[in-house]
Amino acid sequence: MMRIDIISVLPELIESPFNASILKRAIDKKLIEINFHDLKDYASSKRRQVDDYQFGGGAGMVMMIEPIKKCIDLLKKERTYDEVIYMTPDGEMLSQKISNRLSLKGNFIILCGHYKGVDQRVRDSLITMEISIGDYVLSGGELPAAVLCDSIIRLIPGVLGDETSALTDSFQDDLLAPPVYTRPSSFDDLEVPEILLSGNKAKIELWREEKALERTKKLRPDIFN
Ligand code: ADE
Repeated sequence: MMRIDIISVLPELIESPFNASILKRAIDKKLIEINFHDLKDYASSKRRQVDDYQFGGGAGMVMMIEPIKKCIDLLKKERTYDEVIYMTPDGEMLSQKISNRLSLKGNFIILCGHYKGVDQRVRDSLITMEISIGDYVLSGGELPAAVLCDSIIRLIPGVLGDETSALTDSFQDDLLAPPVYTRPSSFDDLEVPEILLSGNKAKIELWREEKALERTKKLRPDIFN
C-alpha cells in the first residue's frame, strides 16, 4: 500500500480534502495511507519554534532545519521512502507525467513550505524532488501538497470506480478530454450532439477522438502534436 507522510506547520489546512469523495474512499479502502505531521511537535524549544529570521537580513521568516530533519529522520527509521518532496513555487512544474510516475511508487514524504521557505540546507541534504503546481505564489505548500496527492491517488488502481476513467482524463495522451453531456437531451434550444444519442459505439468513439483533437488544437496548441 502506498503511504504518504505530510509534514506541515498547519496540518489542519491540508486535512479536509482527504475527508471527502475519492480521496476518502481510497483511504477507507486501504489503497493509500496518509499521515499528517505537525512540524511544531518536532521543535526543540518550549515555544515550539520552527522558524527564525534569515541570516543577512530581510523580511520574512525561514523554516529551520532542526525540526524538519528530526521529523524526516524519525519517519525514515520506520520505513524507506521513494521520494522526499518539497512543495515550492521554484520546483519542477507538476504535470500528468510526474503524477503518473509517482503513482507507481510506494512511500513519500511531502514537506510543505511556509513563510519565506525552508533553510536551503534542507533542500540540499534532505529533499529528493521539488514540485511547483504553477507560476504563482500561495501562502504555503499545503494546498499544493493536496493538489499533488489528489492527482497521484486517483491513478492508483482500484481508487476510481470505473477502472478506465483515469485513462480518459485530459492530458493522459497529451490531449484534452472531449466534451460530455447528460440528461436532458434537449434543454431550451441547447441540444446534445445527435451522435451521442445514436448508440453507435464505434462512431461515438471516433467523434470523441475528433473533438479531443479539435479542443486541444484550439485551447492548448502548446501541447498539440
Ligand atoms: N508554495 C507556495 N506556492 C507554491 C506553488 N505555486 N507550488 C508549490 N508550492 C508552493
